[in-house]
Amino acid sequence: MLASWYEDQGPAADVLHVGELPDPSPGPGEVRVRVTVSGVNPGDTKKRRGWLGSSMPHPRVIPHSDAAGAIDAVGAGVGARRVGQRVWVHGAQSYRPFGTAAQYTVVPDHQAVPLPDHLSDELGASLGIPGITAHRTVFADGPVDGQLVLVHGVLGGVGSLAAQLAHWAGATVIATVRRTADLDHIDPAVVSHAVALDTGDPAVAIRSYAPRGVDRIIEVALSDNADLDNAVAANNAVIAAYATR
Ligand SMILES: NC(=O)c1ccc[n+]([C@@H]2O[C@H](COP(=O)([O-])OP(=O)(O)OC[C@H]3O[C@@H](n4cnc5c(N)ncnc54)[C@H](OP(=O)(O)O)[C@@H]3O)[C@@H](O)[C@H]2O)c1
Repeated sequence: MLASWYEDQGPAADVLHVGELPDPSPGPGEVRVRVTVSGVNPGDTKKRRGWLGSSMPHPRVIPHSDAAGAIDAVGAGVGARRVGQRVWVHGAQSYRPFGTAAQYTVVPDHQAVPLPDHLSDELGASLGIPGITAHRTVFADGPVDGQLVLVHGVLGGVGSLAAQLAHWAGATVIATVRRTADLDHIDPAVVSHAVALDTGDPAVAIRSYAPRGVDRIIEVALSDNADLDNAVAANNAVIAAYATR
């Protein structure tokens, strides 16, 4: 199969190879997916660059945990009726060496999830790391129906999905972007009130929409926004932080 891989950490141009590797075979309880779209996330590039002093977990890594595609082979113990099924894949290169930047990837059966026909491969390849993280930030400790939820960085991969999930679940979404110009890109069907962090006093702006404070903050940059979060949080608010500098 055609694949991309690295055997040393570093900048992409220095360490990524593209070429032929042997086709993988699914072991017991696994499926092989013919990849149509591979999803790349910050965590994938951080691992490749050795972020926070991490070392190579395996001698050779095919990067990317997420993908969309179709199952073309199954291992022992997996029903043959899964062959041909369109799926979205998560965790292919989480604690495993060979991810989705290849024509084929092999994952445990439950990490290849059926993808309904009306959803695109591009969407399916975006559901793994960002979608699961967004779901966790919104729902980890219960329903958000009727809550005021503040989503920082709402145009980001995780932030945009968190806002959609919170809105779908009955919350009112207040959102931030870093630059005023980015306010134009926000979907008003999802976000009720949007605030740019580069102008005025964002705490005052957020409080104007949430006088008693917000119930939940979905935080992409805790170290940058800790004071702002403190200024807009209601009593007993939850801060669900998934990243910091
Ligand atoms: N904990 C976990 O399990 C987990 C899971 C997924 C992702 N992450 C981490 O979460 C981070 C974001 O991932 P992503 O895929 O969503 O990345 P992304 O698509 O690049 O989105 C990041 C968003 O955050 C915005 N942003 C950055 N600093 C901000 C700040 N101080 N205040 C408000 N908004 C800010 C960015 O705005 P600009 O574009 O204007 O800079 C961008 O819209 C990455 O560091 C990633 O590694 C952690």
